[in-house]
Amino acid sequence: MKNILLLGGSGFIGAHICEKLVRAGYRVSVATRKAEHAKPVMHLPGLTVLVCNVHDEAALTQAAAGMDAVVNLVAILHGSVAAFSHVHQELPAKIARACRAQSVRHLVHVSALGVNTDQPQALPSHYLRSKALGELALMDVLGLRGAGAAASLGTSLTVLRPSVVFGAGDQFLNVFAALQAHFPVMPLACADALFQPVWVEDVAQAVVQSVRQGLDGVAPLQVFELAGPQVRRLRELVQFAARCAGIGQGRGRPVLGLPLWMGRVQAALLGLLPGAPLMSADNLASMQIPNVATGRVPGLVDLGITPASLETIGPQYLVADPARAGFDGLRQRHR
Ligand SMILES: NC(=O)c1ccc[n+]([C@@H]2O[C@H](COP(=O)([O-])OP(=O)(O)OC[C@H]3O[C@@H](n4cnc5c(N)ncnc54)[C@H](OP(=O)(O)O)[C@@H]3O)[C@@H](O)[C@H]2O)c1
Repeated sequence: MKNILLLGGSGFIGAHICEKLVRAGYRVSVATRKAEHAKPVMHLPGLTVLVCNVHDEAALTQAAAGMDAVVNLVAILHGSVAAFSHVHQELPAKIARACRAQSVRHLVHVSALGVNTDQPQALPSHYLRSKALGELALMDVLGLRGAGAAASLGTSLTVLRPSVVFGAGDQFLNVFAALQAHFPVMPLACADALFQPVWVEDVAQAVVQSVRQGLDGVAPLQVFELAGPQVRRLRELVQFAARCAGIGQGRGRPVLGLPLWMGRVQAALLGLLPGAPLMSADNLASMQIPNVATGRVPGLVDLGITPASLETIGPQYLVADPARAGFDGLRQRHR
């Protein structure tokens, strides 16, 4: 039986991955900062919860001992430049060094669509820039970049770049549905920003496939863009969420497009509320580039996965009482 360590495995996507890995017969360990965070997955048969500080390289190296593959899902959506760098750039480098030290065969790193490692500094947000620098840090430590790339240092790497992820428990459409249950209009900055939403089960399956292929022996470095079958504007997604949830007699709420400056003011005000902000200026900056697959790297179909559409899946989980479901979800996020 192969041993797989998940970092960030307690989160939204991680929980779906854990379930699939356990069902596929892997022995799964989830590293978490607090045992209670792993509640969504700790019931899974044979799954081990490992409480540790993943930023402590010694603890990380110990956690990686005996692992065949490691999956990194740790990320933040909001924070200072230093926090983004700490979590998205320094941590991947530590993970890669731990994998090398413990001769882990394969590392799967979940990044984000919109990341471009050719010109990281040209990316519009701290989130995207730090994600790009994190990918580069992994490649550097694993010897997968530059002149020596042909001679990988033993651990192969798959980088997965999903668009916005939807599905049961998401903090995207559920939250927009919840907001519209409370307000008669939906003021929205970047209303025409483009997304290619991808189903969480497809992303989880992509991780399982990447683990499987990595352990079978694949190219030392592979990058995949994970996107759904349709490109949608943010305003369309917001209205879709409300319609599915039956808000406004199933018509949803009018979306009031805000200019970017007003969106920044809105983000600043939201930032004053307790807990993680719903939307930050950095999130708005990320939306300045389309969150759409470039087609320049392989995608889900190359992993043998036919992506499900939002129109099929959305109505199954966007519940009739979105106010309760969405805000319960938000409270969980503020743990
Ligand atoms: N959800 C999306 O729409 C989406 C879209 C594109 C890319 N992605 C990427 O997919 C990955 C997983 O996303 P997700 O939505 O599942 O995230 P999530 O629900 O927020 O889970 C991330 C996990 O990371 C851990 N974590 C968070 N902050 C940390 C910190 N400062 N130090 C150490 N650990 C920390 C947490 O685990 P513990 O609390 O147990 O320690 C948490 O469960 C991320 O890399 C994200 O950028 C997500």
